[in-house]
Order: sequence, then structure tokens, then C-alpha cells
Amino acid sequence: MKKRILTGDRPTYDSFHLGNYIGSLKNRVKLQEEYETFILIADMHALTTHFNKTDTLEGNIRGLMLGYLSVGLDPNKVTFCLQSKLPETVELAYFLGTLTPRAVLERQPALKEKLDQGEQDTFALYSYPVLMAADILLPKANLVPVGKDQKAHVEFARDIAIKFNNLYGGSLPAGRQVFPIPEPLIGEVPTLPGTDGQAKMGKSLNNAIFLTDSAQEVEKKVMSMYTDPKRIHPTDPGTVEGNPVFIYLDAFAAENFKFQISNFKLLYTKGQVGDIEVKKYLVKVLNNFLDPIRKRRAEYENKPELVERILEEGIQKARAEAQKTLVGVKKAMKLDYFNN
Ligand code: TRP
Repeated sequence: MKKRILTGDRPTYDSFHLGNYIGSLKNRVKLQEEYETFILIADMHALTTHFNKTDTLEGNIRGLMLGYLSVGLDPNKVTFCLQSKLPETVELAYFLGTLTPRAVLERQPALKEKLDQGEQDTFALYSYPVLMAADILLPKANLVPVGKDQKAHVEFARDIAIKFNNLYGGSLPAGRQVFPIPEPLIGEVPTLPGTDGQAKMGKSLNNAIFLTDSAQEVEKKVMSMYTDPKRIHPTDPGTVEGNPVFIYLDAFAAENFKFQISNFKLLYTKGQVGDIEVKKYLVKVLNNFLDPIRKRRAEYENKPELVERILEEGIQKARAEAQKTLVGVKKAMKLDYFNN
């Protein structure tokens, strides 16, 4: 049987940028071939920071769905689901909460970080990892691909699964335990810098190129990109390493562009090619990369009912799995009384 993956995003934005692509989407597209993949839109988790912006959620959910489908996540291979349509999540989270020491939640680094950013100190923010553990354990995921910042949460899910199995699965033979033990899968990808040369591309940093940007927008952003600041004239020897223009070229060039790129690198270090020429080439490379994504997106944008159906079918499938899991959970906990 194929191993199962679950990963998710909070719908606090409506479009992905190149950094999201390199950091996670690209990997998901690859993993869908090998694993049975669940992608969860975590709208209840979004409420921890967006309880006063609930009017943005529906549009963001649609935007994320279009983003997933446009990069080639295949609805025949991926189960897309929406957290608030899986009420079993809250039920399981409660049971997991009964096994969660308060001190463990107090120690979570993500909580401190969010509070430092000025987020409200609510019960939902505090119990974030418990809900996330329920997300992961409901479909009995084996692997959870996430960024470094989420690793501690997946480890929490792992610990709670072990604890649950030990406590309630004692009489079950090994291999028939209630929960498989989920593992984090941390991609070793370097973070993509922003167009301004900042270490990280970010939605709110005004340094991002979005998968939804038009060819003209891409051109405008690239032509004003940060390059080697020490280089004043095209005849000055330039630095390729750490130069965002070359980092993007390496990250997004199709095979047929690669020869020219190694050429440019050589010329650049010798001061024999100008930034403008290299940037114009990057515009070509990026638009070539984005064109099929734009095309797929336009197809789905024209069929909003299809996108909705894909999500609905995913929800149905995820819900059936969730209900099955909960039956097993309650049985193991001996809470299956008064069932007939
Ligand atoms: N916490 C994740 C984030 O902020 C989103 C998320 C919610 C998630 N549930 C999940 C990720 C389950 C992986 C598995 O990005």
C-alpha cells in the first residue's frame, strides 16, 4: 500500500509566489507520484490570527485551490480538503488534548513567536499543535512535508500518537495500532531570496514574484531586481554567488536555457556582460516557467464549478477516512458504549 502524506496551508493569503513554489509546491508535485497525498486547507487554524478577518477566508481558499491546480497538483492523485468541513478534527483534538500536558503547550516556540508578533493570546492559539496533530492523525498520515518552522508541531503529533497507542492500544498487536507514527519530512531547499536581495521572499515584504503575475509584471519586477551592488559598470567584474538574478536563473531554468546561463556566469565574473542583458534573459526564463502554470490556471478559472467539485469530492473522501479513524479511536478508548 502507498504511504500517506498530509500537508496543509492556512488560507491567510490567496496566491503563491516563487518562494512558495521552490519551498513546498514543487516538492508536493513530485511527492504526489509516490504517495497518497492529502492537502488540507486549514481555515480553523487561520482563525487563530484571522478571527476578525473572516470575510477574507472564502476568497483565499479559492485562490489556494487555483494555485495548487495550476502548478500541476493532480486531483486524481491528491485529496484536497477543508478543515472546517471535517468536524471530526475537533472531536479528535479534544481526545488528544486530554493527553497533552499544559507545560508542553506553554513551551512551544511557535506560540512565543506569534505572541511577540502581537497576536491575541487565545485558547485556540495556545492549542494550535493539538488541532494540527488531529489533522495529521485523522487520515493516519505517515509523512508530513513541512518547513522547518513547523517541525516541532509534527514532532508533537508524533509524541501524542505514541502516547495514545501506548495508553489505549496496549491490547492490540504491533502493526494494528490505532495511529501510525507520523514523521516530518523537511525539505532541504535553500530559501529563495526576494527581488530586493533580502534573504527571504515574502508576501508582505513587497519583494515577491507571484505565480499569478502577468508577463509584463514579471518583466517590471525583474528589471528592477537587486543584483551585485558593487558593480557599477557592465565592465566591472561581477559576483554570481548569492546574486538573486543568478539564483533565480538556476532555480527556474528549463534544460534548454542552462548552457546560456553557464555562459552568462562566466562573462559576468569577467565583466563582459551587463546586468540588463542577464535580467532580460531571466524574464524569458521565468515566463517560460510560468506560462504552463498560467495556462492551467486560466482553464480552471473558467470552470469555478469544477474547482468546487474537486474540493467537495476531496472533503467527502477525507471525511470518510476521518469517521473510520474516529470509530477506531473510540473503540480503543472504550468509548464505544451505547452504540446500538
Ligand atoms: N500549521 C501549518 C502552517 O502554518 C498549516 C497546517 C495546519 C498543517 N494543519 C497542518 C501543515 C497539518 C501540515 C500538517 O503552515
